[in-house]
Amino acid sequence: MSDLATLEQRAQAELAACADEPTLRAWHTKYFGKTGEVLTALKAIGGVPHEQRKTYGQEANRIKEALTAAYEKALAAEKERALQASLTANPLDVTLPGRPVQRGRLHIATQTMRQVYSIFADMGFQVYRTREVEDDHTNFELLNMPPHHPARDMWDTFHTTVPGVILRTHTSPGQIHVMREFCPNPIRVILPGMCYRYEAITTRSEIQFQQVEGLVIGQHVTMADLKGTITAFARRLFGQERQLRIRSSYFPFTEPSIEVDIDWPKEDPNADRLTKGTGWLEIMGAGMVHPVVLRNGGYDPAKFSGFAFGMGPQRITMLRHAIDDIRQFWGNDLRFLRQF
Ligand code: PHE
Repeated sequence: MSDLATLEQRAQAELAACADEPTLRAWHTKYFGKTGEVLTALKAIGGVPHEQRKTYGQEANRIKEALTAAYEKALAAEKERALQASLTANPLDVTLPGRPVQRGRLHIATQTMRQVYSIFADMGFQVYRTREVEDDHTNFELLNMPPHHPARDMWDTFHTTVPGVILRTHTSPGQIHVMREFCPNPIRVILPGMCYRYEAITTRSEIQFQQVEGLVIGQHVTMADLKGTITAFARRLFGQERQLRIRSSYFPFTEPSIEVDIDWPKEDPNADRLTKGTGWLEIMGAGMVHPVVLRNGGYDPAKFSGFAFGMGPQRITMLRHAIDDIRQFWGNDLRFLRQF
């Protein structure tokens, strides 16, 4: 019994002397580990003379519980102390307002594109994306421009090191891809995307720019449908009062070919500059899909007809926001981009 009393006193004294968590844990192993002193004392019950066994057993169990409780209390106190110490050492002001997160915005080019998509979506057009790296065959030949065709001069081309592989000069080769995928079904799509031309960079021309191509193929599609579609589009984008003017033009892949102008309000102080004094502003090239192109897409020109148009959303954006330098679009100058 006196061994038990000494054990308890010694254990309590050592526990009180533990200054951190590792020493506390070491203390626990010493007394409560598999061969720990408290467990050894409990196991010793069997060897105690019968008449003392009950008292010894009770006392041993009381000590076990008392030491366990003392240990848990000391451990909790030590954890709290360590936490407080670390909070004082690295003070954290949870009331400090957070740093504002920089929010991005859509690039002005993306904003225009999305507006164009939604106007055409309302007219039942789907967006169809095609490749920016094309072959000469699809960019020119299948669009009715054999090698050495003089019309190729309209599109100065970036060539790659692979013969015949080029960066597309317009979105029109997409017409071939979409026709070959959907033939003989009717088609009503827009084909948006980046185009590339090997040109001198000036305030008015860039070596890369976006286009939105439109293609409608079906039975009995007429020039009137083209005119109606373009008019509806221009009025949604530029205002209900806008007048449309159609001039005859030439593209190898449309016949007849047209260019479309809209009237520009005389009140606009930029009107003269934008319309070169004419009051009319060109927004797109278009026409009825050439029979050769229909055939290259898999459609029989005797049964099917269609129209196509191609416009430059950068030009349109420049008009709408009085941007006088096309190089701003891909210049990544935040002072420009943040205005929209
Ligand atoms: N692809 C022509 C261009 O880049 C535009 C166009 C598209 C003209 C479709 C007619 C029909 O200039």
